[in-house]
Amino acid sequence: MPSKTIIEPFRIKSVEPIRWTTREQREELLRAAHYNLFLLPADDVLIDLLTDSGTGAMSTRQWAAIMQGDESYAGSRSFDRFRDSIQEIFGYHHVIPTHQGRAAERILFSVACKKGDVIPNNTHFDTTRANIEFIGAEAVDLPIPEARQPSKWHPFKGNMDVAALEELIARVGRERIPLVMITITNNSGGGQPVSMENARAVSAVCHKHRIPLYFDACRFAENAYFVKQREDGYSNKTPKQITQEMFALGDGCTMSAKKDGMANIGGFLCTNDGVLAAQEKDLLILTEGYPTYGGLAGRDLEAIAVGIQESLEEDYLRYRIASTAYLGNHLANEGVPILQPPGGHAIYLDARAFLPHIPPTQFPGVALAGELYLEGGIRSVEIGSLMFGAAATMDLVRLAIPRRVYTQSHVDYVIEVVLAVWQRREQIRGMKLTYQAPFLRHFTAYLEPVTAEVPQLLEA
Ligand SMILES: Cc1ncc(COP(=O)(O)O)c(C=O)c1O
Repeated sequence: MPSKTIIEPFRIKSVEPIRWTTREQREELLRAAHYNLFLLPADDVLIDLLTDSGTGAMSTRQWAAIMQGDESYAGSRSFDRFRDSIQEIFGYHHVIPTHQGRAAERILFSVACKKGDVIPNNTHFDTTRANIEFIGAEAVDLPIPEARQPSKWHPFKGNMDVAALEELIARVGRERIPLVMITITNNSGGGQPVSMENARAVSAVCHKHRIPLYFDACRFAENAYFVKQREDGYSNKTPKQITQEMFALGDGCTMSAKKDGMANIGGFLCTNDGVLAAQEKDLLILTEGYPTYGGLAGRDLEAIAVGIQESLEEDYLRYRIASTAYLGNHLANEGVPILQPPGGHAIYLDARAFLPHIPPTQFPGVALAGELYLEGGIRSVEIGSLMFGAAATMDLVRLAIPRRVYTQSHVDYVIEVVLAVWQRREQIRGMKLTYQAPFLRHFTAYLEPVTAEVPQLLEA
């Protein structure tokens, strides 16, 4: 019987020290990094919540499988295990390994799409959007209206707006839409799940118009657990059964195994379409590698084959989703504005509501992320005005939780640090840019605090 206390369903066999720094050291380190946390040496970070991608801890079974890696160029038995494991869960005929998720996206869109096409998604992840736009096609986000309201609770805030999809198909024509995508969970929308009912409705629309449906499957296991918890009729099904049912609604998927693949690198592309698969493999050979390794080592294929099965274990998922919710709920109970409800892999602080005296032009998300580092050595990431410029509709700070890496005491520590910053929020100043690159500026930008006193708005 699960206890009230959240316990990690694993014990620790190998440890990696993390380093304490003093507040004075962090002030100096942050100044030297030009107030951009991407520019900090990782060794100077105590708790690294920059991303959940490729940062997970592998299990004893994965390490054991790595030793079985067959590094043959062609026909390796590691590929057979990789393919069989993926086919058992996702059910698609063709499995193409890639070095990470974006490589699967590039190959899919290069082969299936052309200039002028339109690709709908609940919300495209940045690399998905960028790969579509690189082809000259248009990436269209169709989330349900609730997804645009940070404080609104909805059990399946990752759902696609099915009526908007029908309307788009009617407007641009089916021949301009080579495929529809659903991202589970919806990362850019806050790690929010998609319901089976919604996936079924989207699938019905796609099949009515004979448009293939693809899943961006990165967090398929977390999504399945939300379905089990929140959707009628699924409480007695296993996460694997739920995943199998959902993917049967589609025609293929892209996957970054750095998330629910529980691996530090890797990805794959699946399809049921044999003609498409042959073209995809040709392109794979050109840029990634032979179709039985796709830019990965045999040992990576082994780690993924085991990892995707482990991510579906119920004890693990119960702890994973409960631990992320624990972080979000503790903060929200103290009044900290977060994107509701807590997602599967991350908590997003609403920096505009946290720091209402800092206008978006002064990067409230960057200011807040800097303060979390100064207060307690925590690294997070801004998703807002620095990342998206004037197009940003929200300024968020994402606390992404690496899989199986931090313990509940680390989570308690993160809560303490966020609450300490919350207590002194009125003293936090905005930031100004001193250097920016012509594109993807958030990775390399330099910033500094604005020198003016706290603006008047605070008193209003
Ligand atoms: C939803 C989603 N799709 C695609 C990707 C791209 O995967 P990768 O970083 O392995 O290229 C990510 C990575 O964060 C993601 O979250």
